[in-house]
Amino acid sequence: MKSPEVEWKAGTGMEILLTEAVIDRRVRELAGEISRDYAGRDVLIVGVLKGAFIFMADLIRRLSIPCSVDFIGLASYHDGSFSSGNVRITKDLETPIPGRDVLIVEDIVDTGITLSLLLELLRKRGPASLGVCALLDKEARRRVPFSADYVGFTIPDRFVVGYGLDYNEKYRFLPDICLLKEIA
Ligand code: PRP
Repeated sequence: MKSPEVEWKAGTGMEILLTEAVIDRRVRELAGEISRDYAGRDVLIVGVLKGAFIFMADLIRRLSIPCSVDFIGLASYHDGSFSSGNVRITKDLETPIPGRDVLIVEDIVDTGITLSLLLELLRKRGPASLGVCALLDKEARRRVPFSADYVGFTIPDRFVVGYGLDYNEKYRFLPDICLLKEIA
């Protein structure tokens, strides 16, 4: 794991946790690892909407292997119980995945519930393999055991926005990953 670089973003009330440059460096490293691990395989990269769209776009452009892409949309209900009824697919994959090497790309793992349930749902479709690459991991918030195969940064339990991550649908466009001061 890389240590987060903290800076102040002048005039915005935002504290930068991970700068654009730091993210870029780590995305290139992750792409290198994934390219090595999936060499010679026809990998399908699946982005989980919406948060993963920027990370996924950067990651696939750094891969040195060909890949296909698809997206999945989920609605989560974190009500304390842990059953597959808690995650509903709002936009399904367009690609059949039986026999495919599938790599799910997420912006953040928090409680671990969304990804645990998504893996459970997709495993039933019989992919050849199912991996997870998450840019951010808030390990301290885990409520179910979950480890991604590739993690960009393990971060503290603070509210983060930018680089695809939102607060009430705002701030996804920020190029850095920032701590939202008023609720952090
Ligand atoms: C975020 C993130 C994951 C999920 C992680 O999505 O993208 O899908 O929460 O949380 P968990 O580990 O506690 O399950 P969010 O619901 O914020 O939707 P978004 O991607 O559209 O912003």
